[in-house]
Amino acid sequence: MKPVVITGTGLYRPPHVITNAELVEAFNAYADRQNALHAEAIAAGERAPMTHSSVEFIEKASGIKQRYVLEKDGVLDPARMRPKFAPRPDEQLSLMAEIGVAAAQGALAQAGLQGSDIDGVLCAAANMQRAYPAMACEIQAAIGARGYGFDMNVACSSATFAIEQAANAVRCGTARRVLVVNPEITSAHLEWRDRDCHFIFGDVCTAAIVEAEDGARGGTGTAPWRVLGTRLVTQYSNNIRNNAGFLNRCEDTDPDARDKTFMQEGRKVFKEVVPMAAAHIEGHLAELGLRPAQVRRYWLHQANLGMNQLVIKRLTDRAVDDDLAPIILSEYANTASAGSVIAFHAHRADLQAGDLGVICSFGAGYSVGSVVVQRL
Ligand SMILES: CC(C)(COP(=O)(O)OP(=O)(O)OC[C@H]1O[C@@H](n2cnc3c(N)ncnc32)[C@H](O)[C@@H]1OP(=O)(O)O)[C@@H](O)C(=O)NCCC(=O)NCCS
Repeated sequence: MKPVVITGTGLYRPPHVITNAELVEAFNAYADRQNALHAEAIAAGERAPMTHSSVEFIEKASGIKQRYVLEKDGVLDPARMRPKFAPRPDEQLSLMAEIGVAAAQGALAQAGLQGSDIDGVLCAAANMQRAYPAMACEIQAAIGARGYGFDMNVACSSATFAIEQAANAVRCGTARRVLVVNPEITSAHLEWRDRDCHFIFGDVCTAAIVEAEDGARGGTGTAPWRVLGTRLVTQYSNNIRNNAGFLNRCEDTDPDARDKTFMQEGRKVFKEVVPMAAAHIEGHLAELGLRPAQVRRYWLHQANLGMNQLVIKRLTDRAVDDDLAPIILSEYANTASAGSVIAFHAHRADLQAGDLGVICSFGAGYSVGSVVVQRL
């Protein structure tokens, strides 16, 4: 098996910021409008009034302070409450591919590569904007890559699951250099009208280059990171679910119904996923003959500050700090599968040769994916 390295990462950050204050103002205006619209039913006790959201709750319950989005006006319009994207002709680069290419360019530059050096493209994300052709094929064409491309979706674990597929392809020699791209347009699947979750997500795109260690050139990035191991697990749960899909039109259901966007039992997810993720990481490290305390940095999935604190506490009995497990969700919110890759992208340059790190995602499925890396 060939040794595999990650030689570059890239990040596309959307142009618009929505602060918690802006978000709550829009939500509360929407709630007031709904309550006025249904005043009679509410007065008759036939309908519960909508309750206001609050900045204090959001920050305390999640640690999120703001999020980036591709389009802001539609989200903050109480008469709309979702982004407004202009449809594009088929000849134009699609939105997912556009942000995928932007992130890919950064990763290629870090790795010292051109698009034509790539012979595999994986577009891995929690939502795909169309059924086919695969966005990966579109990105492959746009950057001039060779080989093959395919889309894959394991919700919030899409990126780590794709890094394993890429690493396996390189290990086996079926590809030499694989580009993993995670365009997460979460603003389009988030239910901005639901107080329980309207604050959760943000848009972003990350990319990573996974390649054979011999022949890795190095570009503008930090040193290569050897992939010591990858480990994936899934365990079926309905606690995070989205029923949008191609059968909807045949089921004669409302395409705007609540179950056609992101839904979760947040408390249950919190309680069930924390022990699952901590045990997964511990087991993966043990397989490699390592202990959690030997790990210099954990780049964890970014859904909730409290979840990451508990995962780290279970693993190391230490309090989480930005040096051990950097938190990026205060700025980006939950960016689905891209969160742990943003943390790895932004917080690895200060580590030394020989330092060990774990990239770990957790989310719907349930799914947990870990990648143990060592700086060369
Ligand atoms: C979503 C999450 C932040 C909610 O936090 P929580 O502490 O579980 O909050 P709850 O949903 O239990 O709500 C607590 C209270 O706050 C209220 N509340 C909910 N949303 C609110 C809001 N936006 N503003 C003010 N109050 C709110 C609830 O109504 C509830 O009130 P009650 O106690 O009177 O019933 C948290 O559960 C979480 O992050 N879970 C994991 C999510 C995750 O990782 N998902 C993966 C997605 S990929």
